[in-house]
Amino acid sequence: MNSYILEGGCRLQGKIKISGSKNAALPILAATVLLDGKYHVENIPLIEDILTLLDILRSLGAGVELLADGTVLIDSTTINVTAATTDAVSKLRGSYYLLGALLGRFGHACLKMPGGCNFGSRPIDMHLNGFRQLGAEIVVDEDVVTCSADRLLGKNIFMDIVSVGATVNLILAAVKARGTTVIYNAAKEPHVVDMANFLNAMGASIHGAGTDIIRINGRHTLRSSGSYAIIPDQIEAGTYMAMTALTRGDAVLENVIPSHLEAISAKLREMGVTIIAGEDSIRVLMEPERKLAATNFVTSPHPGFPTDMQPQIMVLLTQAEGTGKVTENVWNNRFQYIDDLRSLGAKIVTEGRSAFVTGKSDLLASTIRAHDLRAGAAMVMAGLVADGTTEITNVDLIERGYENFVEKMSGLGATIKKQPATVSEDAADISSAV
Ligand code: EPU
Repeated sequence: MNSYILEGGCRLQGKIKISGSKNAALPILAATVLLDGKYHVENIPLIEDILTLLDILRSLGAGVELLADGTVLIDSTTINVTAATTDAVSKLRGSYYLLGALLGRFGHACLKMPGGCNFGSRPIDMHLNGFRQLGAEIVVDEDVVTCSADRLLGKNIFMDIVSVGATVNLILAAVKARGTTVIYNAAKEPHVVDMANFLNAMGASIHGAGTDIIRINGRHTLRSSGSYAIIPDQIEAGTYMAMTALTRGDAVLENVIPSHLEAISAKLREMGVTIIAGEDSIRVLMEPERKLAATNFVTSPHPGFPTDMQPQIMVLLTQAEGTGKVTENVWNNRFQYIDDLRSLGAKIVTEGRSAFVTGKSDLLASTIRAHDLRAGAAMVMAGLVADGTTEITNVDLIERGYENFVEKMSGLGATIKKQPATVSEDAADISSAV
């Protein structure tokens, strides 16, 4: 895999445009499979996970045309395959949305188990239980799951845990089902709401997205064409906010929805960062002489503090005065990257689901690895304040979720370059991935 070479000690300044949301684009692209028509979807981030999903849609028979401005034209009328069992499916988590979409439209879906970042067990039991309650028969054979149903029937479904993926998948399966489905304890993330808005714009009847209870009135026929623009990426914006604060920078992020960033802004303000929200932009300012204050936070589903910002704020805490406590309540193993931070000089002690970070630590540049998408971004943050030149390996994981990462970082003044992997490193990556 490729690496980044990064010089520590810069102050991020300037303006960048935030891309479309990865975690909204994935379900919305899958939702075009549920529909039967021709759709323009705008503000798509051109990142690895999306390109992989588009390839999977092509393999199902969809027409897919990707324009350079991030608009994708999908023709789902030509889909004639309901099985996706290639290795591409297990490269990303969001491929599991094809289960709900194919099942909802064709009454059949066969999918290789999805992949995605590895931070503990990532079961899909609630997705499958929900499909069963709607009337599907489920067969899991090694790493392939098959769902089939003559007819899906609306039901009341109670979720044990708040799950983004299960909420989205059950909406997809219920949109064309006969009768009404009510999902209790639903996920409220902005990307869940965005997918519901997309489906409603195409004629679906989904009420309550963004609250704990979502009601879907099944409708068999939906619109056969339409256009929709994806919301900006909350976590990409949050990551650049944290980076700007860390480097005592002054940056304006354009194309954001400030209300989606409230939990992150509140935490940064607590740490002493100035956040000025505009209508669709946000300015982050941290004067060089100002000290960052330690804080505590607990990750939880929206509107709580997002788990996908946990590693980035952990790095920020290494540069704050005092001890902060971080509690990870969504994933059961999302602290794997902490050893790398310790190797740079960070003082972090873990105790079960909590980590205690004592700052301010002087970090020393070294070679570190991106463990997953968000932890990878956190490693870049560590490199931004480390003394010397940091090499971050495995950065393809970062580019799964951050569009034009090197260009945006350079635009803000970072000294960062991408170094291609040698053939022998690539061979080693492949053998260690097996
Ligand atoms: N869970 C179950 N059973 C299920 C589904 C989930 O036990 O059937 C548990 C999970 O193990 C986890 C919790 O429920 O402990 C929440 O998982 P959720 O289903 O909400 O996560 P997800 O849908 O797999 C999405 C994002 C993640 C983000 C989480 C939480 C996508 C493609 N992925 O994952 O994003 O961390 O929600 O907000 O939308 C990222 O973008 O870096 C990323 C990992």
